[in-house]
Amino acid sequence: MSKTVLIVGGAGYIGSHTTLALKEAGFRTVVYDNFSSGHRDACFGDVLVEGGLADTALLTRTLEDHGVDAVVHFAALIEAGQSVLTPLPFFENNVGGTLSLLNAMNAAGVSRLVFSSTAAVYGNRTDVELLDEALTRAPINPYGDSKAMVEAILESCVAPHGLRAIALRYFNACGADAQGRTGERHDPETHLIPLVIQAAQGTRASIAINGTDYDTPDGTCVRDYIHVSDLASGHVAAVTHVLSQQEPGVQPINLGTGAGQSVRQVVDAVKGISGVAFEVTEGPRRAGDPATLIADVTRAREILGWRARHSDLETIVRDAWVFAEGQRGG
Ligand SMILES: NC(=O)c1ccc[n+]([C@@H]2O[C@H](COP(=O)([O-])OP(=O)(O)OC[C@H]3O[C@@H](n4cnc5c(N)ncnc54)[C@H](O)[C@@H]3O)[C@@H](O)[C@H]2O)c1
Repeated sequence: MSKTVLIVGGAGYIGSHTTLALKEAGFRTVVYDNFSSGHRDACFGDVLVEGGLADTALLTRTLEDHGVDAVVHFAALIEAGQSVLTPLPFFENNVGGTLSLLNAMNAAGVSRLVFSSTAAVYGNRTDVELLDEALTRAPINPYGDSKAMVEAILESCVAPHGLRAIALRYFNACGADAQGRTGERHDPETHLIPLVIQAAQGTRASIAINGTDYDTPDGTCVRDYIHVSDLASGHVAAVTHVLSQQEPGVQPINLGTGAGQSVRQVVDAVKGISGVAFEVTEGPRRAGDPATLIADVTRAREILGWRARHSDLETIVRDAWVFAEGQRGG
C-alpha cells in the first residue's frame, strides 16, 4: 500500500513542486497550508486541509484521520531581510509553529520528518571553499537563527521522542516546473532570477548588481543555484530514507550542485534566453552578502543517492522564463 505524506506548506513554491514529485513517485499526499504566501492553484495534493501551523489540534486530527506516515515541513516566513526588521513573527511562525507540529506528531505517533532548512544556517564563512554539514551553525540574521533553532530542537527530540528526521539545507532555489504547472511567485520577490526576469519583462525598470569588487572571477557574488525540480526529487529521496530509517536520528543534508554561478552570469543568461537587452546598474556591496556560497554535496550523494540533474543555468533560466511569461499570458 502506498505511504501517505503530509506536506505542510505544500501550496508554496518548493512545496508545490515536491507534492507533484511525491505523487509521481507513488505517495499519497495531503497538503496542509494557511495560504499566507501559498497559492490555491499550486495545491496538487490528493487532499487539502486549510489550517495554520499553530493549530496543534487540527494538525493532530489531520495526521490521524489520513493515516500519515511521514511529514515534510516547508511552512515558514522566508525573507531574511525582513527578519532583521521584524524578527518576532519569524520566531513565532518558524520556531513556535514547528513546536506545534512536533507536538501534533507526538500526539499522533508520527516520528518521520523532512524539514526545510537552509544554507543560511552557515552564515558568512569566508574560510572554506565548500560548505559541508559538519560546520558549526553560525547564522547571521533572525531567519537563519530560526532555522538553526529548529535543527537544534529536532536533535533534542531524537532520544525522547524517537524522531527520525532529515533537515535539508537548500542553497539557492530557482527555476520552475518544466511542464509549467507551478513556479516561483513570491510576494514580495527577493530572489535574483525572478527579479532579473522582471527586468526582462519590463515590469521592473532595471536590475542592480550589488557589488562588483568581490574576490570572485568576475567580481560579483557567486551562489549555488539549484533547480526546484531537483529540490523536489531530493525530498522524495529524503522521505524514502526516513521512512526506512530503523534507528531514531536527525541529520542535516545539503541540497545544492557543488558549483557556483555569478550574478553577472545569471544576468547574461536571462538576456540570452529572453532576447531583451534590459538595463543593468552596478552598485555597492550589500551588507552581509558573502562572496561565495557553494554546497558540499557529498552527503546528499552518499546518503540519499541524489544529485542535481536539471540545475545547469540554461535549464533553470529557461524554465523560470517560460513560467513567468505564462503568468503574464505571454
Ligand atoms: N526559496 C528558497 O530559496 C529557500 C532557500 C532555503 C530554504 N527555503 C525554505 O524552504 C521552505 C519553503 O520555501 P518557499 O520558497 O517554497 O516559500 P513559500 O512562501 O512559497 O512557501 C511557504 C508555504 O508555507 C505556508 N505557510 C507559511 N506559514 C504557515 C503557517 N503558519 N501555517 C500554514 N502554512 C504556512 C505558506 O502559505 C506557503 O504556502 C521555507 O521553509 C524556506 O525557509 C527556501
